[in-house]
This record gives sequence, C-alpha cells and structure tokens, in this order.
Amino acid sequence: MDRREMLKTVGASVIGAYGLAMLGQPQTAIGADAAAGTPDLFKGGEYALPPLPYAYDALEPAIDKETLTLHHDKHHAGYVKALNGTLAKLAAAREKGDFESIKALGRDAAFNGSGHILHSIYWTNLAPKAGGEPKGDLAKAIAADLGSVARFKEELTAATVSVEASGWGILAYEPVAKVLRVMQAEKHQNLTQWGVVPLLVLDVWEHAYYLKYQNRRADYVKAIWDVVNWDNVAARLEQARKLAI
Ligand SMILES: [Fe+2]
Repeated sequence: MDRREMLKTVGASVIGAYGLAMLGQPQTAIGADAAAGTPDLFKGGEYALPPLPYAYDALEPAIDKETLTLHHDKHHAGYVKALNGTLAKLAAAREKGDFESIKALGRDAAFNGSGHILHSIYWTNLAPKAGGEPKGDLAKAIAADLGSVARFKEELTAATVSVEASGWGILAYEPVAKVLRVMQAEKHQNLTQWGVVPLLVLDVWEHAYYLKYQNRRADYVKAIWDVVNWDNVAARLEQARKLAI
C-alpha cells in the first residue's frame, strides 16, 4: 500500500471522527464572494486547505488583511500538513504492527484534525457585508433552546471571551436531545462532547486577533458579530438535523 492509498484509508475513518457534517456543505446565500461554502477539505487522498471564500481584506475592519492572510495561509495550512503527516505515521505504524507511538500520534491527530475542521468552518461562518440577525428556522431554534437571539449572543460572547488560553467559542447542534448548545473548546479538541455538530465557531487563539486587537480579545469578539454569515450557520443547522447518533 503506498502513502496515498494509506492516507485514503485512514482518512475515511478520520472524516467520520471529525465531522461528517463538513462534507457537502450547502452554499451560502450571501453574495458570490461568500458562496464558496463547499470547500474541498479532503481530496486526492489527503486533507486539503480549502481556499478562503473571499479576499484577504474582505472582512475589514473586523478582521484585518494581515491577520487573515497569516491565519489561513500559515496557521490553517500548518494544521493540514501536520494532520496528513500524522496520519501517514499512523498508517506506517499499522503496516508494521508497531504501536509504540500510538498515544502521541493519537493526540496529534486529534489536535490537528480538529484544527483543520474548525478553521474550515470558521472561514465559511464569516462573510463580508454580513452580520445582522439570524432569521427563519435558525432564529426560532435559538429562541427555543437558548432564550432569545440577544441572550444567545450574550452567552456565546461570554463563553468565547472566557476561553482559557487558546480555543474557541462554539454554537453546536446536539443531535440526541436535538438542541442547540453553546460550548467552549480549549486548544481545538478539548471540552467537546462526542456527536455535537459545530455550527458557528469563533476562534480566540491569539493568532486570530492579536495583530489588530493585541490583548483586547473582547473587542475582537464584539467586532466579529459584524461579519457572521448567518445563512451559512442556518445551512449547517439544516444539515446537522439530518444526523442521528
Ligand atoms: Fe486559528
């Protein structure tokens, strides 16, 4: 089995672990520039960096061009490269029947795989000329499960700003109770609950905001509401509701 075949084999299982909901995402309805809601996250037998669905300066002033460029081209690309490298090592270990490094490789796969998925969602959760308020079924679900849209924004803002060290604030769909939940992730992979589907993810690693906002994480989180692509979040909820555990 060559490396490409090995990656194809292990990749399929990792896609299952990290979120089938990412596949075949519907397109957003916010303008042509933001319509690329179908990034190819796994192609040619390897995980792949999806193109940013808008220009690097399209989210200004909320997110500046330099930050977005480094974030996508360096940080996200790094997770993809490390994920593929880790999976190749896992496949080689499997070929040899040598699982001495399985613990470290498993940790690396969880970290980099989760980083790849969350960043891929993050790009499509944002769009130029977006923001405003959620509408339709999404707004109804938020009101039913989280009090009201205003209270949800308060909750997700509080959860996001208070993430310890590096991580994410997340609006997720929990398919057992069929409810929306506000969650935190530390790093990319910690504090999750198996089975939840991330719908809206707000990156609060310092690499997401430090060049413009320095230590003012709360100012960045306040500004990011101006570029939330609610149509993308609504489309993700529609997809997530089709899942069963
Ligand atoms: Fe990030």
